[in-house]
Order: sequence, then C-alpha cells, then structure tokens
Amino acid sequence: MKTSILLVVNFIVWFFLLGSVFSNDYTTFNKLVLPPSVSSPQSAAFDRAGEGPYVTVADGRILKWKGPAVGFVDFAYTSPNRTKELCDGTQDLKLGLICGRPVALSFNYKTSDLYITDAFLGLLVVGFNGGLATQVSSGYSYLSGIDVESYTGNVYMTDAGLTYNMRNSAKPGNTPDSTGRLLKFDPRTQRVTVLLNGLAGGGGPAVSSDRKYVLVPEYVTKKIQRYWVQGPNKGTNEVFMTTIGSPNNIKRAANDGEFWVAVEKQAQGLRVNGSAMVLQTVPLTQFLDINVAVVQEMNGSLFVGSNDTDFVGVYTN
Ligand SMILES: *[C@@H]1O[C@H](CO)[C@@H](O)[C@H](O)[C@H]1NC(C)=O
Ligand SMILES: *[C@@H]1O[C@H](CO)[C@@H](O)[C@H](O)[C@H]1NC(C)=O
Ligand SMILES: *[C@@H]1O[C@H](CO)[C@@H](O)[C@H](O)[C@H]1NC(C)=O
Ligand SMILES: *[C@@H]1O[C@H](CO)[C@@H](O)[C@H](O)[C@H]1NC(C)=O
Repeated sequence: MKTSILLVVNFIVWFFLLGSVFSNDYTTFNKLVLPPSVSSPQSAAFDRAGEGPYVTVADGRILKWKGPAVGFVDFAYTSPNRTKELCDGTQDLKLGLICGRPVALSFNYKTSDLYITDAFLGLLVVGFNGGLATQVSSGYSYLSGIDVESYTGNVYMTDAGLTYNMRNSAKPGNTPDSTGRLLKFDPRTQRVTVLLNGLAGGGGPAVSSDRKYVLVPEYVTKKIQRYWVQGPNKGTNEVFMTTIGSPNNIKRAANDGEFWVAVEKQAQGLRVNGSAMVLQTVPLTQFLDINVAVVQEMNGSLFVGSNDTDFVGVYTN
C-alpha cells in the first residue's frame, strides 16, 4: 500500500518535472563560435536591420557575425595603439591598455552609430562602417553596461565602481562596494551627468520602450532599481524587484514594455514586464553551465553572451 502511494507520488513528481521541461521554450541550442583563441563575448548587440550579433571580445575587438558560412569578422576597435599583430587572439589582460577591452555595446538606431564602453578607455562611438572608435568621455572606474535611447540619442551607462575594476586585477576577488553609478551622456552637449550614486555593482541598464524609466541592476545586492526619466516621479528611483541571483545586463525584449534580465550565476534569463512580473524563466543551464552576462532577443531567438566562453549561445524554440 505504502509502496504504491509512493509510486503514485513519484509518478506525479516525474510528470510535473518532465512537463516543465517539455513545456519549456528555447529547447534548441547553437553556438556562434569566435575565431581561434578569442574569448569572452560579454555583449551581443544587433543593428537597425537586425544584423549581427556584434560582440565585444577580450582581445580588444568588436566582431560582427556574418552568418555560418563566414563566421565572425572584424568590425571595430577602441584603442588607437592596437595592432592586429600584437593583439589578435591575445589572452594577456596586461595588454588591455594597448589593445583595449570593449565591454558593452548599444546602437543608436536613428544614426546607426554604435556606442561602446571600454574598461580602460571609457565611452566611445563608431559609425556604421566600423573601424577605430572615437573616445567621447573618459575617467571612469569601470563602465560595465550601456543602453542608447534612440529617440533622444541619450546614452545611459553604469560605472561599476571598484567592484569589477579590471585595472585592479592584482587584487583578486575585488571586494563588493557601493560606488556604482548610473550615468547619462547627452550627445548634443557632450556632457555626462550622474543620475544615481551608491549602486552595489555593475551590470547594464535598459531604457523602457516607452522611454519613461531606466532599469538598473545592482549586481551585489541582487536588486533592480527603477530610475524615472519622465513623468511625475522624474529624477527619483525605487527598488523595482529583487532577484534570486545577481542581475547582470538587462535588455529590452521583443515585446514592448518587457525586458530580459541575465541572472549571472544561476544562468537564467528572466522575462519581466513593467510591473516587475516574471513572465518567463529560461534555465540557460540546459546547455551552458556558465556565468551569463547578457540575454538579447532577436527574431525569436535568445543570444547569450558570457565572459567565460569562446562562443555566443543561441537558444531557439
Ligand atoms: C533577423 O531578421 C531580419 C529580417 O528578416 C534579417 O535581416 C536578419 O538577418 C535577422 N537577424 C538574425 C540575427 O537572424
Ligand atoms: C598610445 O600610445 C602613446 C605612446 O605610447 C601614449 O602616449 C598614449 O597614451 C596611448 N594611448 C592610449 C589611448 O592608451
Ligand atoms: C505584467 O503582467 C501581469 C500578468 O500578466 C499583468 O497583470 C500586468 O498588467 C502586466 N504589467 C504591465 C505593466 O504590462
Ligand atoms: C572576465 O574574465 C577575466 C579573465 O578570467 C577576469 O579577469 C575578469 O575579471 C572577468 N570580468 C568580469 C566582468 O567578470
């Protein structure tokens, strides 16, 4: 009797487990593999035509995916002192000052300019033909994330403070602190203003599709803040939601008003809406057991970037 109840319970548990696996979307996985000895695609941006992804990699380049027949090709770079001979494929972090270390990317869809944050060189911009990017603002601790609001052209970015300070790599496991900031670069005045201080850690912000607010991850304290850029609460912020793991980059989803939050160590993609409702949880560990940096949706697929891989993961239904 007891055994049969156990069996029934077991069966029900298995039924639900399998059910949740099978009803889960994004069950097909592919890799967009980087060139030999190139690694750490921490971002995956698409241009106005949906072409890409464009990725930042550890050897200082921004590469563009041109489809499976061609693979990744050179698109842009950040440091005027970079040479292909010295830098292509390098894993030597000490060369960062010469080769550059682009971290995050976002297109202005009106002008097709690509804005880039670099761990050493600050904020840069490059036109749609790529090549050497132009520095527009510098002097940051570590710019970790970026989002361009294409209507006004304003660029929102996070300075992670000391938390991820790569220039401090002599101090492993840099201690968490609260010196992170949300910044805004206005391309008309070329000025940067500080919108929020005292953020705990990096990650990347995302502007809502109605342009009313910016979501800002707090990596260390596992929170997401909402900063209002329009409306009655303009200039104020509130805790939008707390997450089980550390939120890294946040990106707008294909549906208006929704976002994808990359939860780093749990390796999850969370689709949330403007009421902080989690509409979908995608366990990326199905195919990748890594720290995820970004989950970017394009044409129904999720493009997953990470500091720990030599490819971009693509999850498709
Ligand atoms: C997305 O779709 C557009 C339009 O069909 C296409 O031009 C683009 O290459 C696609 N992008 C990706 C990454 O599949
Ligand atoms: C490039 O190299 C020159 C000469 O060594 C140096 O003065 C300059 O600061 C370097 N530029 C950058 C952006 O590192
Ligand atoms: C978020 O989703 C919930 C559940 O579907 C819905 O009730 C709520 O209205 C949505 N919020 C927004 C801002 O769309
Ligand atoms: C990325 O990986 C490198 C090499 O392992 C490490 O030094 C760096 O701190 C990592 N960056 C982030 C943002 O995790």
